[in-house]
Amino acid sequence: MNLINELILDFKKEFQKDAYEKTEVFFAPGRVNLIGEHIDYNGGKVFPCALDFGTYAVVTKREDNKFRMFSKNFENIGMLEFSLNNLIFDKKDDWANYPKGVIGTFINSEFNITHGLDILFFGNIPNGAGLSSSASIEVLTSVILKSIFNLDINMINMVKLSQKAENEFIGVNCGIMDQFSIGMGKENNAILLDCDSLEYSYAPFILDNISIVIANTNKRRGLGDSKYNERRASCENALSELKENNINISSLCDMSFEEFEKYNHLISSDENKKRVKHAVTENERVLKAMEALSNNDINTFGLLMNQSHISLKNDYEVTGIELDSLVEASWEENGVIGSRMTGAGFGGCTVSLVKNEYIDSFIENVGNKYFEKTNLKADFYIAKPGEGARKLGDF
Ligand code: GLA
Repeated sequence: MNLINELILDFKKEFQKDAYEKTEVFFAPGRVNLIGEHIDYNGGKVFPCALDFGTYAVVTKREDNKFRMFSKNFENIGMLEFSLNNLIFDKKDDWANYPKGVIGTFINSEFNITHGLDILFFGNIPNGAGLSSSASIEVLTSVILKSIFNLDINMINMVKLSQKAENEFIGVNCGIMDQFSIGMGKENNAILLDCDSLEYSYAPFILDNISIVIANTNKRRGLGDSKYNERRASCENALSELKENNINISSLCDMSFEEFEKYNHLISSDENKKRVKHAVTENERVLKAMEALSNNDINTFGLLMNQSHISLKNDYEVTGIELDSLVEASWEENGVIGSRMTGAGFGGCTVSLVKNEYIDSFIENVGNKYFEKTNLKADFYIAKPGEGARKLGDF
């Protein structure tokens, strides 16, 4: 039986529906960022792609104001229920705060959500692994709301509302990269996104004889979210200091490296100087990586990925023993074009470009070395750039 049929059966069982009842099925991918880390909130350019795995939802309308939600990933938590009239963050609603936050954000933006829904979710993205399972369920909820309530809203505005829900309802001050790549993803393509203007273009990312290999440290982020907000605050402080000294920039990534060298004495904290150095150099690496790609020079692209990791380790300080061990083991392998941490860091995943004939030895050797160093078992996934969030059909 295929996955969708299985999910529909599960939905009917959990929600005690009749076998003949019609359901609607939706999907939103996860994302992996190839280069351009921790600069979406600094007005930089990023280069992520949507994945070919993500979060599914089976949905039916209700007559009343109630939302009932069940996740196959958290069966132990069971059925969660809340009402349209009481959309406030509630710890006991656990993972369902993500869709709840999106519903509340739509309502606050004057969208007419008239009644409740029954929704079964299932994700095949590892949770908390830095592949954006949270942005995936947020954008998925947006797409469900648009479709079921016939809302007049385009994907970019759904992306913005999903990010707003994460910022204001969940309290993670994330940038727009994750929701954007999940909403706007295109099969076989990565997206070059200017996070300042939201201008974007697609770049085919099907490489001859090379695959995108994601490795999960299986280190949960834990404190990651508060550290994430700390990094963002450091960048904001440094930006205000520069502006107070009449440096005419609206975001850190407006500066070239030469300008950074000229002005960095105006940033009072040495730690913040390093954070800004990362932002400025990472943005320049993205531009160089795009140039390399347009010249079919994948080796230079890979070297820039490696440099990105070093900068995230030394200057932005968001890696840690697990990510560093995985990446350093990857660099030692034959057939590796480039390897770096991806996402927020502090755990989560690495992304590597690996020649196809070396994938098996890569997985075996990197997995072994990682285990020796950390006593943790890494998981590996071969990923393809996938299509963005969408309705899969009526079933
Ligand atoms: C998380 C955030 C994104 C981005 C990355 C780091 O995934 O949600 O907005 O800042 O970290 O690049």
